[in-house]
Amino acid sequence: MRRLPPVLLEDGCPRELISLIRTVLAACKEISFRVGQGALSGVLGSTLDENIQGETQKKLDVLTNQLLKDILLESGYVKAIASEEEDFTVAGNPDANYIVAFDPLDGSSNTDINSLVGTIFSIMAAPEGSDPADPSIFMQPGKNQVAAGYVLYGPSTVLALTTGKGTRFFTLDKTHGTFLLTQDFASVPEETSEFAINASNQRHWQPAMQNYINDLIAGVTGPRGRNFNMRWIAAMVGDVHRVLCRGGIFTYPTDTKDPNKPNKLRLLYEANPMAMLIEQAGGIASTGTERIMDIQPDAIHQRVAVILGSKNEVETCLSYHK
Ligand code: AHG
Ligand code: MN
Ligand code: MN
Repeated sequence: MRRLPPVLLEDGCPRELISLIRTVLAACKEISFRVGQGALSGVLGSTLDENIQGETQKKLDVLTNQLLKDILLESGYVKAIASEEEDFTVAGNPDANYIVAFDPLDGSSNTDINSLVGTIFSIMAAPEGSDPADPSIFMQPGKNQVAAGYVLYGPSTVLALTTGKGTRFFTLDKTHGTFLLTQDFASVPEETSEFAINASNQRHWQPAMQNYINDLIAGVTGPRGRNFNMRWIAAMVGDVHRVLCRGGIFTYPTDTKDPNKPNKLRLLYEANPMAMLIEQAGGIASTGTERIMDIQPDAIHQRVAVILGSKNEVETCLSYHK
């Protein structure tokens, strides 16, 4: 097993970017510890506040956001940050070259049931000469990401990381506080018989997704001619990790449940970093009509439909959308 820095240095990853990634991971190690403490440290439960997206904030949403924000801004490695839990972007060091968008705690409805949660992050270069206080520096398509990853706080704490040369897994050695490389190149199997979707929304989906899921559920007697299994963790980070480990299709499609919110997952700090990790492992990430990483964002908290995972299965799903 090898430590994190040499792996990235050998890849030709710029030292400043490695330092920034290590800074994100320093915060994630502390988050791993806090999440692991659970009820012992009084961090479970909700606050009385809502974020700009109208979602009640969990105490851990606020705590993890503050940790990442403080550590990143103090480091001097970031020009600006964008977070699910911040209404607006926050300016950092004007001389820094990178910007970071993050979901400090994905799957926060799982905090109070001791289930999977994680941190998702996306790193891009700041346009040269840009103003750190100008939110438009984040209005870049996901294909511009120079690094993306998540840290999954499960039975073990696992980092999935890509700097554009494959997707790697590192496991946190909690006795030494070091992320050790435990899988060099993750590869999403092209075929799968497993899907992930919140089926309680079925009546609100568009016809294409209704038809696709109906055909999966029909099993051996249906048009697909085989049985499919279903999983739903209610934390994208857990579902995407499973897809990276053993294949599958994960989707949070457009629905009509709330006319003001046709899509759930956020482009900048959920869909884009996961799309990069999935593509770097040989999978596909689409909205149903276009590649996620090609979308030109127009708002920090913009939401998109997500269909990602095993190549052949995602292509089959997309064929229903044509
Ligand atoms: P967050 O906790 O950061 O708000 O994200 C939750 C997201 C995503 O992780 C997950 O796939 C989805 O919401 C779960 O949605 P349901 O509540 O519909 O299961
Ligand atoms: Mn999330
Ligand atoms: Mn979150």
